[in-house]
Amino acid sequence: MTKKQTIHLIGAARPNFMKIAPLYHELKRRSWCDPVLVHTGQHYDQGMSDVFFRDFGLPAPDLALGIGGGTHGEQLGKVVMAYEKALTDAPPALVTVVGDVNATAACTLAAKKLNLPVAHVEAGLRSRDRTMPEEINRLVTDSICDLHLTPSQDADENLLAEGVPASCIHFVGNIMIDSLVAMQPAIKAQPHPFPQLDGRRYGVATFHRPANVDDGAMLKVLVEGLTALAARLPLILPLHPRTRARLQAAGLLAGLEATAGMTLCEPLGYTDFMRCVFGAALVVTDSGGVQEETTYLGIPCFTARTSTERPITVTLGTNRLIAVADIAGLPVDAAHGAQAKPLPLWDGKTAVRVADLFEMYLSAGAPLRQG
Ligand code: UD1
Ligand code: UDP
Repeated sequence: MTKKQTIHLIGAARPNFMKIAPLYHELKRRSWCDPVLVHTGQHYDQGMSDVFFRDFGLPAPDLALGIGGGTHGEQLGKVVMAYEKALTDAPPALVTVVGDVNATAACTLAAKKLNLPVAHVEAGLRSRDRTMPEEINRLVTDSICDLHLTPSQDADENLLAEGVPASCIHFVGNIMIDSLVAMQPAIKAQPHPFPQLDGRRYGVATFHRPANVDDGAMLKVLVEGLTALAARLPLILPLHPRTRARLQAAGLLAGLEATAGMTLCEPLGYTDFMRCVFGAALVVTDSGGVQEETTYLGIPCFTARTSTERPITVTLGTNRLIAVADIAGLPVDAAHGAQAKPLPLWDGKTAVRVADLFEMYLSAGAPLRQG
């Protein structure tokens, strides 16, 4: 019997797990390959990591690098060193990175230095804001990886404009939506995490971008905006650890907790969070993935950022870019679900397309990108 091809799937932070899970399960069904889960450990809290393994039915990581937090330089350097060692000890047939977190760029760099093939799922997204740490990770990853698997056609255009050979670019659709499609029935069936809000009009808010929460003046405007909005529409606000730490340091946490209409909580697991989103009249966020999930569901989404790497959520979806100062006055009476429409290849079958492509690529000898 021929040996199974080993495929690494890299997870590091919260938004990675809903992207690797569908691919892990699809590859597991294929007899020719063996998916190996690698967790760099960038996110390590139960509510930022373990809960997603449970929600998505993933086994414990095969390889846990245990890198933890740190400055960006520390995180990148430690991942490159640890992953290089793992790759040298047991080189896989293919490394798969997702999204735009530090490990996406670091694992790509480690693998490419060893001339191993790398596939990037969610390639080609660009905010064109190079002050965003994620934009640097996207540019670094896409400039050297071998297979660019894109969620939308704007991403193909970005890659072609940057000189990526067309033969390396494959429009496969949005893999996060695979998780949403697969989990939708279970999410709908589960009880609402906040029963007092079930069936009422409420909003969901998530914030963690350094541009919004690390700057003291901006954080104050954000808190004032959310406080004013909560007076008009009850809000669920699961606090990202970065945001909680900044609020605490600025002395703003206790006030926010005591705000009328505000349900402040720890980060939620995927099914709990999506259960809240399913029932929401609106979502206000600076998340990348939440812009896509609300677009798929047709839920009005207001993104407090100056740019988005996911422009299709604005042009074809329900997303609107706003200033943080606009949060207080957001319209709270938008019709739920009114704008839901299918986006090309956001259909729950992206993992199947990616697995088919991997099979073809590896059976062709995994040609590395030239140029
Ligand atoms: C990271 C990603 C970002 C993504 C976000 C998703 C990069 C450059 N950033 O940002 O793209 O949108 O994850 O949530 O990769 N912390 C904990 N427990 C944890 C994780 C983090 O307490 O489990 C705290 C630590 O104090 C840490 C801080 O949060 O210093 C920020 O974490 P970090 O992973 O550096 O960046 P994120 O803001 O989470
Ligand atoms: N999410 C979650 N619990 C929360 C907040 C978000 O499960 O409390 C999910 C959300 O549904 C989406 C993903 O986390 O699937 C997005 O991650 P995040 O906003 O942290 O990162 P980004 O997408 O901005 O990189």
